[in-house]
Amino acid sequence: MARKKIALVGGGQIGGIIALIAAQKELGNVLILDIPEVEGMVKGKALDIMQVRPHDGYDIKLEGTSDYSDLEGADVVIITAGVPRKPGMTREDLLGINLKIITNVANNVKKFAPDSFVIVVSNPLDAIVYSFYKVSGFPKNRVVGMAGALDNARFRTFIAMETGLSVQDVSCIVMGGHGPTMVPLTRLANVGGVPLTDLLSQDKIDAIVKRVQEAGTELVKLYGNGSAFFSPAAAIMEMAEAYLKDKKRVIPSTALCEGEYGADGYFIGVPAVIGAGGVEKVLEVNLSEEEEQMLGKTLEVVKKTVDETGL
Ligand code: LAC
Repeated sequence: MARKKIALVGGGQIGGIIALIAAQKELGNVLILDIPEVEGMVKGKALDIMQVRPHDGYDIKLEGTSDYSDLEGADVVIITAGVPRKPGMTREDLLGINLKIITNVANNVKKFAPDSFVIVVSNPLDAIVYSFYKVSGFPKNRVVGMAGALDNARFRTFIAMETGLSVQDVSCIVMGGHGPTMVPLTRLANVGGVPLTDLLSQDKIDAIVKRVQEAGTELVKLYGNGSAFFSPAAAIMEMAEAYLKDKKRVIPSTALCEGEYGADGYFIGVPAVIGAGGVEKVLEVNLSEEEEQMLGKTLEVVKKTVDETGL
């Protein structure tokens, strides 16, 4: 069987970690693409990781490029291209600059990798994944945004930290837009099947929810000159692996809704089935009235940013 090809559009901090994870899991050959001004940097990252291979014995190949035609044959395209937040900025502040970048990227992906499964990561995520979908004309099952997998991992992390229990046994869902209005569903969170509401007081649960909603911002403040990259990279690769191995994983993902959850024509974070068909299905959870209201609020925020794209 021919080896799969994973192309990264954007070779920054997230791109480098993705390349390392993809290599170590032997998910496929990796192409790291970035603008000509930093071609040396991405060629360097690829060559550097090539030299990690002997320690682990994996045989996949990594290459750096600034030539979009090298995307040809890519099975998965992961887009992190764009500018990250600096302290004091919201994700929405990035719309103007990242919209220009995604338009160019979408035209090139359409031209050189028209059959790929595309995972968009650039912020403001909900509007940028929508823009990719509109500009590329890709079918909805082959375009998805990565946010929920990360927000969910943060939710799991904080639950494990607060309860002192294994993160492996924590299960939960975060829905909605990738921003402070996201909706961690505390009602459905559990540790090994034991409801979170039986493990922690409401005050503690409320504090966890707030921390999840602001987790990206907490890291932007700590780093001082960019946003999170280890955890986003791991979250992206969870989605890519589910697609490449046809796992039918249920991963909170930013998917196009056409009526689900009262959203029509917008990408928002929903539990999605990811397998060989890409986003194979959006699963519908019966929400409480309060949860529906919270989701309605986050949808308003998403709609406002999407409308600003003019697409
Ligand atoms: C974050 C950025 C990647 O949430 O949006 O860390």
